[in-house]
Amino acid sequence: MLKESPTLSEKLQTNLTGDKIGRPGWYTHFGATTFAESAIPTFVDAVAAIYPQDKPLTVVGLGSGNGTYELTVSKYLRDKEGYDTKLLITDLQQGSLDETKHSDIPLVKLRANITQLPLQDSIGGALVLSRAVEHYLAEGELEKLIGEAGRILSPGELYVAQISSGDPLALGALSKGIKAIGDKDETFLSLDEYRNKVGKVKQKDGITPVFDELTVGYAETQTNRGVFAQARRYLNKHFLNLKKSEAGNNFEAYKEELNQLSMTRDNLGGNVHDDKSRQLAITKLDKAIQSTDAFDFFRGVYIESVTSYLKDQGIQPMPGFDQSGIRIVGEGATITDIVLDVEYPIIVLQKREANRATRYGQLFPSAH
Ligand SMILES: C[S@@+](CC[C@H](N)C(=O)[O-])C[C@H]1O[C@@H](n2cnc3c(N)ncnc32)[C@H](O)[C@@H]1O
Repeated sequence: MLKESPTLSEKLQTNLTGDKIGRPGWYTHFGATTFAESAIPTFVDAVAAIYPQDKPLTVVGLGSGNGTYELTVSKYLRDKEGYDTKLLITDLQQGSLDETKHSDIPLVKLRANITQLPLQDSIGGALVLSRAVEHYLAEGELEKLIGEAGRILSPGELYVAQISSGDPLALGALSKGIKAIGDKDETFLSLDEYRNKVGKVKQKDGITPVFDELTVGYAETQTNRGVFAQARRYLNKHFLNLKKSEAGNNFEAYKEELNQLSMTRDNLGGNVHDDKSRQLAITKLDKAIQSTDAFDFFRGVYIESVTSYLKDQGIQPMPGFDQSGIRIVGEGATITDIVLDVEYPIIVLQKREANRATRYGQLFPSAH
């Protein structure tokens, strides 16, 4: 019998540094703190209304990477809303957890699978956050993650999930491109598809949903996911190894260029923790990437995979195409870039009170 290829979660368990899949530094590609802060207005009022300020608040991050997002939120809730915040971050990749910035927020880091958390039921005073994890999960795992979030929360408490989403056509193209260049199986969900998954997660009675949706907002949108943005994430030795036969005689030369490039990145970007320096480092890295032959090769593979996906969807890809979050750029008939829009909805979910029959309250309130 053929062995099924491992899921991304399984790969992550043996790849603790995240070097080849899910680089720990992916969030350095745009202002990390600004991006995190842009999410807060969506849920801060709900948090302030639901959690008492005179009790400790434990922010729990699921699939936190280096925890920049959760730290930003925890600090905001402490400094602007007066909470006594503690932070628990989780991830499968030890390498990412090790990159956590120093902070004066009490912090626990837990290497754990978020679909099976080693945490007690109803921790009490917990606010669960996740950002950009849903697209890493294999079939059936997202429901488990949502179930775990519900299990560790107490009734009335919140699970705030930020997802990477957009138009289904653009998301399908993104998945195909990422598979071709990074050998990663990422599946992106539209907001409705995500809601559908949430609705499937039921309480023990098998009927009542665990969560009610309170509201949806958006973090800062990143509308420029073209070849270049993808290259910053995926252009690495792993990509070349994957494409070794296609890279042919140029393989060694490309590898050397990439070595230089990753040294540039390590020296300039790897250990820089304030966003301005990171931006500078990234700009330099961007230029270095664009001047390599390896980048041209990468561009070819990416454009080929996305155009063939679009053809499969009945679309004739050509420069000037601009629909459903997909813009095709070119010179004459030659495609030089395919830009995919990704948006970041934040869904604020509240764990249902055990005795509430519907989101509108009890249908038959008991007589007094
Ligand atoms: C795209 S990164 C996002 C990181 C972080 N949440 C952020 O927004 O910066 C996805 C993260 O999910 C983690 N991850 C994926 N599947 C996981 C699982 N089953 N259990 C724990 N962590 C997981 C990966 O290791 C990676 O750090």
